[in-house]
Amino acid sequence: MSRASEREGRVKGTVITSHFGRTDGSFSYGPMAVARSVARTGPTRGAEMRAVVIKAFGDPAGLEVADLPAPVPAPGQVCVTTEAIGVGGVDAVIRRGTLAAHGFREGHLLGSEVAGSVTAVGDGVDTSWIGRRVWAFTGLSGGYAEQAVAALGDVLALPDGLTAADAVTLGGSGVVAHYALERARTAPGEAVLVRGAAGSIGITAVQLAARAGAGAVLVTTSSAQRGARLRDLGATHVLDRSGDGGPDAPAGVDVVLDVVGGPRLPDFVDRLNPNGRYVAVGVVGGQPPADFGTRLVANFRRSPSFAAFSADTVPGPDRQAVRAAQFADAARGELRTVVHEVLPLDQAARAHREMDAGRVFGRIVLVP
Ligand SMILES: NC(=O)c1ccc[n+]([C@@H]2O[C@H](COP(=O)([O-])OP(=O)(O)OC[C@H]3O[C@@H](n4cnc5c(N)ncnc54)[C@H](OP(=O)(O)O)[C@@H]3O)[C@@H](O)[C@H]2O)c1
Repeated sequence: MSRASEREGRVKGTVITSHFGRTDGSFSYGPMAVARSVARTGPTRGAEMRAVVIKAFGDPAGLEVADLPAPVPAPGQVCVTTEAIGVGGVDAVIRRGTLAAHGFREGHLLGSEVAGSVTAVGDGVDTSWIGRRVWAFTGLSGGYAEQAVAALGDVLALPDGLTAADAVTLGGSGVVAHYALERARTAPGEAVLVRGAAGSIGITAVQLAARAGAGAVLVTTSSAQRGARLRDLGATHVLDRSGDGGPDAPAGVDVVLDVVGGPRLPDFVDRLNPNGRYVAVGVVGGQPPADFGTRLVANFRRSPSFAAFSADTVPGPDRQAVRAAQFADAARGELRTVVHEVLPLDQAARAHREMDAGRVFGRIVLVP
């Protein structure tokens, strides 16, 4: 679909939406994902909004702009008039239809993470929230829209000085980086390798590791240009996707934070120093080989540890506390966010094409 037709490809009607997800800025893919009731009790006085839905699974061309009834906040929810919408890898996974078995259907309204102003509240929510600028997690649907609803526990007020675009770049991914490094018991002076550092999780992890006094911060990335940008954020050694390069890089590392997974994961397990810790947080490169545990156990004399980590397992209030601290740091300029590009909501398909082509460093943000 051309850019013009992306803008013109608006449809009128009602879509069936799935509203899956945790009660915070983290994602759940598996059968344990719990359906939340959609706070769409019908438009008030016929209010409509623009939104982006999956008209057909597969290529980004299947994304379409639609006029939908504006959501009405249910009890305990707020309605946010969006200023910025985060575009995440999970959105592309849903768009491809990969999660159809988990209840995601064509007609799904994409998007998990928004920032903007609270314009309405449901029963039980203090009206003082109205007018406040917030970040909000909307579950695994509802974000690609001019208005979105979220449970109050998934909403965080923005500090002065933090833009809406920065908030949706850091809000979901920053807590993953924080807790993954914590889960790895990362200590000052240790060598930390961030695999897949060019995404929003990795970019924050590099900064946090450097700030915590890592002895070395190694990154994998696909180009020298990205390597230079990551050095600017705190990386000390730049490796290619295979883990080669970085001539002065330490051969062994104490911690691996892995966003990639995929067939090469065992090669990175082999790089762990004695008592090293490996934390897998993502699988952008696919699932690891089924027998990777064999490589882990083969190294048993070095006492390696391997963990898969999801922020879903961290209590919501703890995630919110870390997120609030990171937002404050970002507002002060002590934690950097990388917005790859800001695009109009109508161009969500273009944003997905950029993601699919691997051209995104940081995060794409949509604005209504
Ligand atoms: N654990 C949790 O709680 C949690 C929460 C949210 C999301 N996630 C997961 O985190 C992942 C997304 O994180 P993100 O947004 O930071 O990542 P991302 O932007 O999707 O990808 C990070 C980088 O990985 C590299 N990469 C991509 N494909 C690769 C491949 N086949 N082999 C090697 N490197 C590859 C790319 O950099 P280069 O081109 O520079 O190599 C890319 O920029 C997803 O798997 C998502 O499910 C986990």
